[in-house]
Amino acid sequence: MQFLSFFLSLGLLLIVIIGNGLDSPELHLREATDFPVGVAINPKRLVQAEYAQVVGQEFSSITAENVMKPQYIWAAEREYGFSLGDSIVTFANAHNQQVHGHTLAWHLMQPEWLENSIASYDSATLENLLRDYIQAVVKHYQGKVVSWDVVNEAISSDGKGWRNSVYHQKLGDNYVARFHQYAREADPDVLLFYNDYDVVAKPEKLATILAMVDNFQSRNIPIDGIGMQMHIGLDFSLDKFQYALDEIVKRGLKVHLSEVDIRTNPDGELSSLTAEAAQKQRELMTEIVRRYNQLPQENKFAVTFWGLRDNESWLTKHTGHPQWPLLFSENLDKKPMYQGFLEGLDVNQTKLE
Ligand code: XIL
Repeated sequence: MQFLSFFLSLGLLLIVIIGNGLDSPELHLREATDFPVGVAINPKRLVQAEYAQVVGQEFSSITAENVMKPQYIWAAEREYGFSLGDSIVTFANAHNQQVHGHTLAWHLMQPEWLENSIASYDSATLENLLRDYIQAVVKHYQGKVVSWDVVNEAISSDGKGWRNSVYHQKLGDNYVARFHQYAREADPDVLLFYNDYDVVAKPEKLATILAMVDNFQSRNIPIDGIGMQMHIGLDFSLDKFQYALDEIVKRGLKVHLSEVDIRTNPDGELSSLTAEAAQKQRELMTEIVRRYNQLPQENKFAVTFWGLRDNESWLTKHTGHPQWPLLFSENLDKKPMYQGFLEGLDVNQTKLE
């Protein structure tokens, strides 16, 4: 009799454990948010089954880390190659994800043939070439991407005015506006973003971007949103962040936290991510998501992480040190930063575990 009740209790316990498991399936980022959560990817990595699985499960938006940049698409003067970019669209469609296009024009990562010949073009030739490029690419991806960064990083790094790039030298102050018009002509529906870094860290840069937006809006130049790149460190100012969000929202634009990564190793002193740094990163992530999540629904475009896992981050090369700046570790474990993201949504943690 005692034996029987032991087995009965064991059975009951098992039912409770399994039942609980069924009641609270693992919650992924894309299900936890009312805005798209994105990741920048390299399509070559999608052949790794585990990588593809996490990208598909966790995210509702995809950006090409590189393969939709001119360097990859623009084969020769009026020749374009879309196969790598298309493979991202195919993956996204299969996983019910939106695609954000990055980027139609940038002073960096141009194809080599253009780097070599750009100085020799007169203004009209260069303008026509860029117009044709922008319109061919936007048309190719019409209905396949929801949005484009039209011009990337057109403001100088001190934030005080236009970057002295070859585009600005040859095409003048108004080129960003004209590129927006070209993109709009090619696709009446795609959302057009201006994307830049240090929007929060450099108040002058934010002021210059806002002045550009005001100018565009007063002239009916199409612009739908601002991409704040969010390559940030643990010293990030949440007050300045809130101010930037408010100013962009005041203008009726969408906000894309477009390239989020949080550096933890500014001086390169750490040889592994310490618990303390991971905790600070988690808390900062929480506060960023909390503030973003409080924006009016129509202003929340997406939050996009610039890579899936720490060891693949561009920052290792860019800063010369590992920074552990992303949501997942090398073996695809969720980091404290991942929990921090969920905590910013004010979701009850106990329900998630
Ligand atoms: C970076 C990529 O992550 C690297 O793989 C590439 O070598 C250089 O470009 N701002 C941007 C992104 O808008 O396109 C950059 O991406 C990072 C900085």
